[in-house]
Amino acid sequence: MDENRRIAAVEEIPDDTTFLFTIRNGFDEEEAVLVEADDDIRAWKNYCQHWTDVRLDKGDGASMRDGELVCGKHGALFESDSGVCTYGPCEGAVLDEVDVTVEDGAVYLTDPDYEFVQQGSSIEYDLSSNRSLGFE
Ligand code: FES
Repeated sequence: MDENRRIAAVEEIPDDTTFLFTIRNGFDEEEAVLVEADDDIRAWKNYCQHWTDVRLDKGDGASMRDGELVCGKHGALFESDSGVCTYGPCEGAVLDEVDVTVEDGAVYLTDPDYEFVQQGSSIEYDLSSNRSLGFE
């Protein structure tokens, strides 16, 4: 496995929340999250399917309930193993998947569309702009 594509050790992935990391496609950086799902590790892009400017993991782990990721904005639930939204305004939509694989106790990015950048976020968020507030 390519060590440049090593995201994290399996034991670093929390049981009850997500592990944030940054990937790059060309010049575009994006965030994704690792999540434990039935003894497997899956990776999803870090945004809700209802409003794609809303992050599921804001830097300290996404909320989870009974094995589902919870969007904090309007409460959509996404199955951690399939990415399917089971409840909420985007019910039936599916999170965008990023391909990863586990080998020798570590998780590697295997998605050919992306390079691994780093653990956590490298993306700057403008916390002073409440651009979503007008639509609530
Ligand atoms: S933005 Fe996630 S449920 Fe509305």
